[in-house]
Amino acid sequence: MDKIRSSEITPEHLFVSRRKFLAGMGIAAAGAVVLSSCKGIAETTPVSSPTSSAVATPADKLTPIEDVTGYNNFYEFSLSKTEVAAVSQGFKTSPWTVAVGGLVNKPQTFGIEDLVKKFPPEERVYRLRCVEAWSMVIPWLGFPLGKLLAEVEPLSSAKYVRFETLYDTTQMPGQGFLVLDWPYVEGLRLDEARHNLTIMSTGLYGKSLLPQNGAPLRLVVPWKYGFKSIKSIVKIDLVADMPRTSWALAAPSEYGFYANVNPGVSHPRWSQSSERRIGESSRLPTLLFNGYGEDVSSLYKDLDLRKSF
Ligand code: MTE
Repeated sequence: MDKIRSSEITPEHLFVSRRKFLAGMGIAAAGAVVLSSCKGIAETTPVSSPTSSAVATPADKLTPIEDVTGYNNFYEFSLSKTEVAAVSQGFKTSPWTVAVGGLVNKPQTFGIEDLVKKFPPEERVYRLRCVEAWSMVIPWLGFPLGKLLAEVEPLSSAKYVRFETLYDTTQMPGQGFLVLDWPYVEGLRLDEARHNLTIMSTGLYGKSLLPQNGAPLRLVVPWKYGFKSIKSIVKIDLVADMPRTSWALAAPSEYGFYANVNPGVSHPRWSQSSERRIGESSRLPTLLFNGYGEDVSSLYKDLDLRKSF
C-alpha cells in the first residue's frame, strides 16, 4: 500500500464526504485557510526551559515544525489534515481544567497552569506512528502521566484509565457530524498509563501546544498508533473495566483497544509493514511497538499480540 487517502482512517460506513463536512462548518475560501494556517505556526508561546529527560532520544531526524503543526488529525475540527490548523485557530484553551476522578482516594480538578507548575515539562523526542501508515518524529514537552495519577491516589479496584476530549459543538464544528460518537474517548490499562514513556504533553518544539496538536493538554503514548494519543483532554477517570473507546466503538474490526504498533498485523484495508515518514522521501519499515519494545514488551507477555490489536 503506497498511499492512503487522508480520510481513510474513517470507517467506510461512517465516512461523511469532505465537501459536506466543510460546507457544514462554513469554510469559505481555501485562501483564507492557508493564510490563517501560517499564522498558527508563528503564534506559539515559548515555555520556560524544560528539564532534561532521562529517556533516550532516538537517532531519527526531527520532523519539521511546519509539518508537525500543519498536517494533523483532529476530527473535531476537520477531516482534512491540512485544514485542521486553520479551522482550529481561536480555539479557547484558557481557562481550562482537567477533572481527575473515578476510583481514586483524592479526586481533583486541576487548572492547566497549576498542572504545568506542579509537573515542570521535560522534553521527550518520540516517533508518532499513525494507524494510516505515516509517521513523524516530534520533540514533545510534557510530564509522565504516572505523576498525575499518583496525585489522586488510585484505588486497588482501578484497572484502566479513561480520557475524554472537550465536547463543545460551538468551538468544534466536527462534533456536529456522525463520524464518531462524541466526545472522543480513549483509554489505557493502568500499567500502561503509569509507564514512564506515557506522557501528558503541554508543548512541542519548546513552545506551548497549538490547538491543532491538542492544546492545552494531550496524551502521548509512543508505542501505540496515534489515535490513542487523545487531544484537548478535560476529564480523566480511573475505572474498573476496559473503557469503550471512540474508534474501537466506531469500527471494532479495524481499531482495537490496545492499538500497539505492529507491522505483522495489517489493517483490514492496508498493510502496516512500512510507513511514510512525513518530510522525507523514502518509506521506512515499521517497527514492533514503534521501536519501543525493549521498554514496553514486558507489559504484554500474557497477551496474544495478533489478536489484541
Ligand atoms: N484526539 C482527538 N480528540 N481527536 C482526533 O481526531 N486524532 C488522533 C490523535 N488524537 C484525534 C486525537 C490521531 S488519528 C492521530 S494520528 C493523532 O492525534 C495526530 O496527532 P497530531 O495531529 O498532533 O500529529
